[in-house]
Amino acid sequence: MTAVRPETPAQSASGTSFPTGFVWGAATASYQVEGAAAEDGRTPSIWDTFSHTPGKVRNGDTGDTAADHYHRYRDDVALMKDLGLKAYRFSVSWSRVQPTGRGPAVQRGLDFYRRLVDELLEAGITPVATLYHWDLPQELEDAGGWPQRDTAGRFAEYADITARALGDRVGVWTTLNEPWCSAFLGYGSGVHAPGRTDPAATLRAAHHLNLAHGKAVGVLRDALPPSAQVSLTLNLHQVRPLTDAPEDVEAARRIDAVGNRVFTGPVLDGAYPEDLIADTSHLVDWGELVKDGDLAEISRPIDVLGVNYYSPTVVSQPAAGAGTTSNDGHGASDHSPWTGSDDVAFHLANDDLTAMNWAIDANGLHALLTGLAKSHPDLPLMVTENGAAFDDYVSPEGRVNDPQRIAYLRSHLDAVRRAVADGADVRGYFLWSLLDNFEWSYGYSKRFGAVYVDYATQRRIPKDSAHWYADVIRHNALPA
Ligand code: NOJ
Repeated sequence: MTAVRPETPAQSASGTSFPTGFVWGAATASYQVEGAAAEDGRTPSIWDTFSHTPGKVRNGDTGDTAADHYHRYRDDVALMKDLGLKAYRFSVSWSRVQPTGRGPAVQRGLDFYRRLVDELLEAGITPVATLYHWDLPQELEDAGGWPQRDTAGRFAEYADITARALGDRVGVWTTLNEPWCSAFLGYGSGVHAPGRTDPAATLRAAHHLNLAHGKAVGVLRDALPPSAQVSLTLNLHQVRPLTDAPEDVEAARRIDAVGNRVFTGPVLDGAYPEDLIADTSHLVDWGELVKDGDLAEISRPIDVLGVNYYSPTVVSQPAAGAGTTSNDGHGASDHSPWTGSDDVAFHLANDDLTAMNWAIDANGLHALLTGLAKSHPDLPLMVTENGAAFDDYVSPEGRVNDPQRIAYLRSHLDAVRRAVADGADVRGYFLWSLLDNFEWSYGYSKRFGAVYVDYATQRRIPKDSAHWYADVIRHNALPA
């Protein structure tokens, strides 16, 4: 078991520094970086199918090769060590471990993660494993996918296999990453795999993801030593009404229900919010969907809540007939998902945008963390993702100069530091992402990495922001 774990409450930070023992990390996800899509027994996940479907991903990009992390993980861990990372958040590909989503494990698939974790431990880097970062085995989607209750049971079995295989060397576990995206982008708007557009299926998927999380928490508690930390990562929307007008405030309430409380309600508070049920009862029969005992399973205590934050969500009630703009989970953008409320308009919080067209607003992260500290004072928090895409390029001197990313990271880290000073128990921060990677329906066109990847050669070039972040880690403080 490893030494650096988020087990002590954050002490208040002073000046520009962070609490002692603050966990400094970077994150990736299996389909976005690994490649080796057909190696060692892996069969397609919904993202293989989706990305190979013409028109679904920009430029027809797929994760077939991605950043080739499957073969280059040793070099990548060496890079992490050079940067001084204390922790690395990665996800396990269900399709490598249990290709059809059922039945016995594929040892060669598990072995990859054993090798990766051993390499990390050797380098003194704490592994933080996420069990599900959106790559459902295709056969489970063919059997109904997340709208189907059985998928939650399948997930619990996969969690058990994986925890028993890696539990002797991984001490921090996350069940699901951003289940909102899996449900609402995957089954609602269809901009993510599996690309379905069915409102009822969306809410069924959300419940079964919650159930999968709860079942997995139970399984992980049984399979892992008592010292293991179990968590869930949510992309909580920092929802703001555009104006104080009652109809805008009401639009914000509806989006808060389908964007946040559909997860935090059952997971943290043991019940689906009544307003969510009232808003959506024309779509699903909640009484039929939620079986006896489900809420008790879903609300099993977690040790830490992972928070992913990129941009706030500003909403209004559009004037009649005005049409709507869209939201992809991190702010307004060119995606058009189903949100549960087709009478809501999304707005940018300001004009300071990243390459994703997401507004830069670090106060949203401060508000999110301090809001959670207020609503759930005993729940430790971990920023499991934060970062930005910009149009990076390699200079003739071979450098990647990315001052905008440094400014983004500085303001958001300062927001974390202020939240800690204001009493939020934030145990650590994971930059998204270690490497440039497959940005889902945007393919390789968006670069989030602290490390640039030249996809033609797979050469890695730490950007200026990577050196800046290494400096932050070294001093446990923001540079002046
Ligand atoms: C959240 C997701 O977890 C990650 O996979 C994605 O690349 C980033 N946001 C940026 O969109």
